[in-house]
Amino acid sequence: MKILKDDEAIRRIKCAKGVAVLTGAGISAESGIPIFRGEEGLWTKMSPEEMASFEAFYHNTAIVSEWYQHRRDIIDKSEPNSGHKALKMLEGLVGDFSLITQNIDGLHQRAGSGSVIELHGNIMENYCIKCNQQYSPQEFDEIYQQNPEHIPRCYCGGLIRPNVVWFGEQLPVECIENAYQAAINSDIFLVVGTSAYVAPASDLPRLAKQNGSYLIEINPNKTAISHIVDLRLEGSSGVVLPLLVDDFKEIMLENKQFTR
Ligand code: OAD
Repeated sequence: MKILKDDEAIRRIKCAKGVAVLTGAGISAESGIPIFRGEEGLWTKMSPEEMASFEAFYHNTAIVSEWYQHRRDIIDKSEPNSGHKALKMLEGLVGDFSLITQNIDGLHQRAGSGSVIELHGNIMENYCIKCNQQYSPQEFDEIYQQNPEHIPRCYCGGLIRPNVVWFGEQLPVECIENAYQAAINSDIFLVVGTSAYVAPASDLPRLAKQNGSYLIEINPNKTAISHIVDLRLEGSSGVVLPLLVDDFKEIMLENKQFTR
């Protein structure tokens, strides 16, 4: 074992059938995408209500649209890191695997992960608030670039917004239901790179634990749920996750030989 020293963790992984993972901004930090909280966080430079709410978008459409376009540019230039890639590998090892993310950057999908539950939407998708017309990233970019005022409008005249969940908005019902189910069904629940301050995502680890799951947190810093986890692996996800997935592989392989 490279990183797992804990006998209970090894025992739990040995008999695990379902593994669920919740990721937050920290997993994309090593891809160069800023996190929200902490000294370097986005929310220390501006408040969420200033930028991430429907009111802000409606009243300051150009500023909010420019901010989202700036974040799209950063994401476009970034690449999935070894943490994202390790989770793609883990998916291949476990029969019942669920990946739930609060991130809107699509980096899990670009790393090759299959069905990702995107709790907060995806910044590359856009739609009209009036007629609900969907816009592909290319279509949106064209409209955005052609509009010098940076107020993207649909052919019907409605404003075009990013397909993300803003403060005060509901999460897509299907997403949150699937996430709750994945947490309940899991035997191991990994919490990666999230401060766990934002509900309902932050409820998922608790729900998993209440249903008997073993919680492992991967984060260089303590979080709002550190006190309830079974195991903390302190460090960046780009370093810790590949080691942890190697350990998963070794344990699962040993277990297969044992059961044959
Ligand atoms: P936060 O910015 O609140 O937390 C990021 C977490 O990542 C912190 O706990 C850091 O310690 C940790 N971290 C930093 N670098 C890391 C690394 N290299 N490896 C692992 N962990 C690292 O981001 P979230 O918890 O994702 O919502 O924030 C949740 C939600 O709040 C976001 O989805 C967004 C935001 O407001 C909406 O916009 C709706």
